[in-house]
Amino acid sequence: MPGTCVIGLQWGDEAKGKLVDILTEHHEIVVRYQGGANAGHTVVSGGETWKLSLIPSGILRNDVSCVVTGGVVLDPASIIGEIDMLEGRGVTVAGKLRLSDRAHVVFPWHVAEDAILNGNVTGGEAIGTTGRGIGPCYRDKVGRSLALRLGDLYRPEFRQQFDHVLKAKRQLLEAARSAGASPIELDGEAIFRQYSNYADRLRDCVGDTTHLLLDAVEAGRPVLFEGAQGALLDIDHGTFPYVTSSNSSGVGVASGSGVPGRWINRVIGVVKAYSTRVGGGPLPTEQDNPTGEHLRQRGREYGTVTQRPRRCGWFDAVAARYTARLSGVDELAVMLLDVLGGLDELRICTAYEIAGRRVEQFPSHIDDLRQAVPIYETLPGWPEELTDVRREADLPVAARRYVDRIGELLGRPVTIISVGPDRDQTIFRNTAPATAACPPTNQQEQATV
Ligand code: GDP
Ligand code: IMO
Ligand code: MG
Repeated sequence: MPGTCVIGLQWGDEAKGKLVDILTEHHEIVVRYQGGANAGHTVVSGGETWKLSLIPSGILRNDVSCVVTGGVVLDPASIIGEIDMLEGRGVTVAGKLRLSDRAHVVFPWHVAEDAILNGNVTGGEAIGTTGRGIGPCYRDKVGRSLALRLGDLYRPEFRQQFDHVLKAKRQLLEAARSAGASPIELDGEAIFRQYSNYADRLRDCVGDTTHLLLDAVEAGRPVLFEGAQGALLDIDHGTFPYVTSSNSSGVGVASGSGVPGRWINRVIGVVKAYSTRVGGGPLPTEQDNPTGEHLRQRGREYGTVTQRPRRCGWFDAVAARYTARLSGVDELAVMLLDVLGGLDELRICTAYEIAGRRVEQFPSHIDDLRQAVPIYETLPGWPEELTDVRREADLPVAARRYVDRIGELLGRPVTIISVGPDRDQTIFRNTAPATAACPPTNQQEQATV
């Protein structure tokens, strides 16, 4: 079977982009199927750094098609900016990129709504979105009556539909202004002209990607699905409401791409060797102290999209075990292992204490997660720099032990270890890729609340 997926198991930025770039070598098609320009995926190759947002991280390789499906919310200005950046740096995009006519389009009113409504959620802290109009665009998709899809931009009724939506959006922004929000003007003519120009520019890339992908998998062509965000940001299964607006765990691959799960036979769960989170919401293992600062500085933990400092903490095996199961993960890639170098001791959270009780199952309600006090296991650290290590046997014993412990706690083998941002700084282990993952034991998953 031809499908492989790369899914982030934490709160995003697990280095999915690096892994997708590496795995592209063995695939013919790379697919982005959810999220939008909130994603920032970094690929480093031969000393050059590439930051991609909507275009799949496979684009740097030749002889590969890159597909953006209908599950993505597509900001045309953003993707055109990426195309220009890539072509300006000598990467061929023309003929390699296909965009679904079903993808919902992000308009300036979505970005305006994101700014206005990105305040407090009911009684809590701000979600701290990326401000890219993601939530408002998905809201219009689900609401249907004010939604415009990429294919609509090429239809004779586009002007009429645009005017209908514009009128409603002006009323909404006016209501928000009356309620105290800053005034936002929408210049309808300018926006219409701009989006007509975007449509002209993208015309050759736009089409039906669902049939394209179904034809590919049915013909046995290898397809790589690139998840954006991380499973803990999944709208249905993540740390709601501090999540993004799409299914960013493994469950989103089929709905976002139109390719049924039966075509996917390899799911790689990507984790950082520690935890990070950008924006609001609980991060039980957060280290707001010199350890957290050590991780932030060594891992250069600043947002790719917004440049915000990422919150850093110890590896949370309760959270990652949950998302590995949720995403049907077969094997694990442990990234940024080098960042842990220089710490005397390392901690892994193996359970939480919530309201005085030991809990090993990730809580479904945010209030329980807020109260969770991590129960840690301590492992020895290592002083060595790992960035030049290329063979598993050359890793310090403590580093190998740490990685293996992550695999044990998540019930899946670790097949890939990353020790630096570059393509070359990657260790492939001899562990045979698991087709049937070792399920966690009943005891591990027993609910105690
Ligand atoms: P993504 O959103 O999951 O693709 O991840 P990001 O690109 O947002 O963040 C990952 C960051 O870690 C990027 O700056 C990568 O260049 C960098 N990176 C990837 N792998 C490694 C690694 O093994 N070690 C270190 N130190 N950095 C890495
Ligand atoms: P990649 O693909 C990390 C976070 C935002 C915010 C929440 C909602 O690079 O891993 P949104 O703009 O989506 O409505 O914001 O989700 N977020 C990410 N955090 N990596 C990402 O993508 C993210 N995309 C969204 O910081 O907390
Ligand atoms: Mg990122």
